Amino acid sequence: MPERARVSSAHISPSAHYTGYVWYRHQLADTAFVTRFGRFVHGLLSPITWGARMAFDLDIEQLLLQRHLQIDAQLTAAIEQGGVCQVVEIACGLSPRGRRFSLRYPQLRYIEADLPVMAARKRLLLNAEGWLGSQHQVRAVDILAEEGANCLAALFAELDQSKPVVVITEGLVNYFELALVESFWTRLAEQLRAFPQATYLTELYPDLREHPRYRQLRWGVGLIGRLTRGNYPLHYRNDPAIVQGFEKCGFSQVVVFDPSRTSQALGLAPSRSAGLVRVIEARV
Ligand SMILES: C[S@@+](CC[C@H](N)C(=O)[O-])C[C@H]1O[C@@H](n2cnc3c(N)ncnc32)[C@H](O)[C@@H]1O
Repeated sequence: MPERARVSSAHISPSAHYTGYVWYRHQLADTAFVTRFGRFVHGLLSPITWGARMAFDLDIEQLLLQRHLQIDAQLTAAIEQGGVCQVVEIACGLSPRGRRFSLRYPQLRYIEADLPVMAARKRLLLNAEGWLGSQHQVRAVDILAEEGANCLAALFAELDQSKPVVVITEGLVNYFELALVESFWTRLAEQLRAFPQATYLTELYPDLREHPRYRQLRWGVGLIGRLTRGNYPLHYRNDPAIVQGFEKCGFSQVVVFDPSRTSQALGLAPSRSAGLVRVIEARV
């Protein structure tokens, strides 16, 4: 078994409860997605997030909403203008996106995937509400596994490779060191080349050292790292470096969005935390 397959990133999973609660708080999710742990952690962190907002104008929930809604916007365009009829959301956690898009587009095939324990939890949750079916399913995947039942190849083998596909990861890649992320992207690009058209949507927090809120952001991501018993490295110094990074991994058309520039179109208030997160749309 390759060394990487033995690395575990299960320590990241609890963070999905927190973001799940944030999506619920902002009317993006049904109560079924709320867990006691998510509500508890949100309450525990609220003095910190309030302090960051008041003292530094750093709005953590707005940052999360920016990435979530920009990914939603790009996915909507891919479905409505690009004819996409199958979506794979890796590291779905307790995100309601699969439910929201399956409701809105009943013909869409939506596969949510996560580490086995989180996938089992999500399957149970969606099943209990009667929301799963032949079009909306949950699978186990481990982006670090290079072979075996939970590897990317096993996940993509289920799809119709004669039709366009969108793959999403949200809230995942910044937990890993760049070499690991680029190895995942390279394996992902290999899988995507089998499709006539394939788009990957993700978000990144770049290492914007000249940003006026850089020190506060570093402090915030340090806190996320400590809470998830890992690390939260910032990757790439700017947008051109992001494009180069994706191209190196085998993606050919790469567009970098700064959601703070289109807050209004995304239905958000004008941005307080301008320009800290990027959403990337990459095609092979
Ligand atoms: C911060 S949560 C994000 C959840 C969801 N995408 C959201 O935005 O609400 C990170 C997710 O990554 C998943 N994850 C961690 N390591 C993973 C891996 N190696 N392969 C697939 N998913 C992983 C965790 O289980 C967790 O659900």
